[in-house]
Amino acid sequence: MTVLASTQADLLAARDPAATVGVVMTMGALHVGHLTLMQHARKLIGPDGHLVTTVFVNPTQFGAGEDFERYPRTLDADMALCQEAGVDVVFAPSVSEVYGTARVDPDAQRITVDPGPLGSVLEGAVRPGHFRGVLTVVATLLHLTRPDVSCFGEKDYQQLTLIRAMTQDLRFGVRIVGVPTVRDPDGLALSSRNRYLTPDERRAAAVIPRALQAGAAAAAGGEQAVRDAAREVLATESSAVVDYVEVTDPMLGPAKPGPGRLLVAARFGSTRLLDNMGCLLGTPAVRT
Ligand code: PAJ
Repeated sequence: MTVLASTQADLLAARDPAATVGVVMTMGALHVGHLTLMQHARKLIGPDGHLVTTVFVNPTQFGAGEDFERYPRTLDADMALCQEAGVDVVFAPSVSEVYGTARVDPDAQRITVDPGPLGSVLEGAVRPGHFRGVLTVVATLLHLTRPDVSCFGEKDYQQLTLIRAMTQDLRFGVRIVGVPTVRDPDGLALSSRNRYLTPDERRAAAVIPRALQAGAAAAAGGEQAVRDAAREVLATESSAVVDYVEVTDPMLGPAKPGPGRLLVAARFGSTRLLDNMGCLLGTPAVRT
């Protein structure tokens, strides 16, 4: 039986203090990508471990005019999925349980986590304050749930990188595990936001994984070749509005020959989609 907890007291009451604890944090509207994180966490903590899924649509990571109000809230369906996935506790706190106040103004919070320079590039450049909100809620939820291990998706690669950095630099003493992106058969990364897409937009969105594949396939030619190949494929879909196509090293620093990361964000109608893929960057041929 999956227990529903809405306060830290409920959460601690449901726990065997000796059990290894795994946590998967989500904003709900669960899909197979989230379930894969739960399976991964269960493998890491073992059958006797205590698996917690948090469901919390975090107001402080949404900017003005973003989709906080219309973000899908489907707790009954989420509970049923968590039950099937063998989750021990779903932690679905209120805003005041997390922030100590029912309405939280991100610009008037007393203490927040500063993501540093990595928080204002890529997604952070388009969504100012987003990663401050993410890191602040992740830190708070880690303290409320106190896991040994917590799994996050590579789908949100910058988020994963920042959470790793926060927990390492601030010595949280939790193991952060990244889980590869789960995709639909046409390659589109599963996302709670895919449900906003019209059928035409959904068809068009499959250009993103095709662009990532093409970019990764061109990686022997170096970073510029990757960007060019990805952009060329994205340009075949006239309805796609590309926010960025970037190539970095695995820590999101400047790209160099060796392992790299190709990251794309694009809009289809009013829906913004993110995706990324690893690649092995070669040294570009020197022109003479
Ligand atoms: P949410 O978008 O619900 O995602 C929850 C977790 O599921 C994240 O770690 C995300 O990377 C992972 N995930 C989403 N789609 C995935 C896919 N197709 N394959 C693998 N993993 C996938 O990310 C958030 O919520 C929030 O920012 C949160 C961390 C909960 C803080 O509010």
